[in-house]
Amino acid sequence: MSRQVGATATSLPTHFRMTSGDLMPSVALGLYQSLPEEAVDAIKLALKAGYRHFDTAWVYGNESALGQAIRESDVPRNEIWVTTKLWNTFHAPEDVEPIFNESLKNLGLDYVDLYLMHWPIAHKRGSFGGTTTNHELSEDPFPTWQAMERLVESGRARNIGVSNFNIRRLAKLMSNPMKVTPAINQVEIHLFNPQPEMIKASHFMWGEEHGVVIQAWGPLSGSVGRLMLDKALSAPEIKESAEELGLTPGQVIMSWHVQRGTVVLPKSVTPSRIIENLHVVKLPDAIFEKIEKAATSYPRVRLFDPSRSWGLDVFEEGTYQRR
Ligand SMILES: NC(=O)c1ccc[n+]([C@@H]2O[C@H](COP(=O)([O-])OP(=O)(O)OC[C@H]3O[C@@H](n4cnc5c(N)ncnc54)[C@H](OP(=O)(O)O)[C@@H]3O)[C@@H](O)[C@H]2O)c1
Repeated sequence: MSRQVGATATSLPTHFRMTSGDLMPSVALGLYQSLPEEAVDAIKLALKAGYRHFDTAWVYGNESALGQAIRESDVPRNEIWVTTKLWNTFHAPEDVEPIFNESLKNLGLDYVDLYLMHWPIAHKRGSFGGTTTNHELSEDPFPTWQAMERLVESGRARNIGVSNFNIRRLAKLMSNPMKVTPAINQVEIHLFNPQPEMIKASHFMWGEEHGVVIQAWGPLSGSVGRLMLDKALSAPEIKESAEELGLTPGQVIMSWHVQRGTVVLPKSVTPSRIIENLHVVKLPDAIFEKIEKAATSYPRVRLFDPSRSWGLDVFEEGTYQRR
């Protein structure tokens, strides 16, 4: 059974099927760095424009804004996909349920569609990074995962997954006797860090039954200011394709992500861009290949690597060019 749903010869998948059978919309509104006061209006506008998928996290501080916007919209809760995430300081198994309950309370919801372990890295309770990293629980987060599995059993997290796991860490986690396998790995993917090996592993390494769907965060490489964002939007293969197809550079990039088989999570609080980013179209093969070739030829740039401040090599990539 294909994981990609709603695709035709001329259109991209509208949804991705989780191992639970649930259908996740292929484009989400990302909420990192959206201030609560701007997020409410942005989410309401997105719901009107047709978005049905929102990506927040406990650490973003805008779960309440998402809950408020959903309540104030006329879209039924069961038509909306809500993702939130477990922060690193709550990886001790006994801390998972209380902080999950806090997220539900912030959201004003009685379940989330997806709960992600935000990072593979555990920090000691009440701390942040550096010498306070819990190395044992970071190397083996299975006890944290088991606490997340209990949230699925309770029906309050419909799906669970991970974020920022490299292939080794994910394979190690999945070698445990899991009751629920990760539905998702949400990782940094954009023109300058396209991670084809991660996408390939997710599709082929674990097979259809346990396949992990990849979500692309920072899809415009816009997580850390304008420099890389502008570089992506003005890359020749993006600009030329946009002109040829009558699309915006942002739409070409979103379409490329979904065509690669990833769920895409663009963040915007600007009405015109929110509307723009939802419109993804199947790119002609030649254009898709041109962008894929360019992306895999650029020097790879990871936008956010907390290895130094967290005191361990998070991605184990060795030769990445740091910003
Ligand atoms: N799991 C993780 O560790 C992790 C880490 C980072 C992000 N994420 C998730 O991924 C989402 C997206 O990542 P991100 O926010 O870091 O980066 P991004 O989506 O690549 O870039 C966001 C930036 O691009 C601008 N923008 C949006 N659409 C545009 C368009 N069509 N044309 C030109 N500029 C546009 C936005 O500006 P305006 O808002 O001003 O329009 C914002 O400055 C986050 O919101 C979050 O949900 C997850």
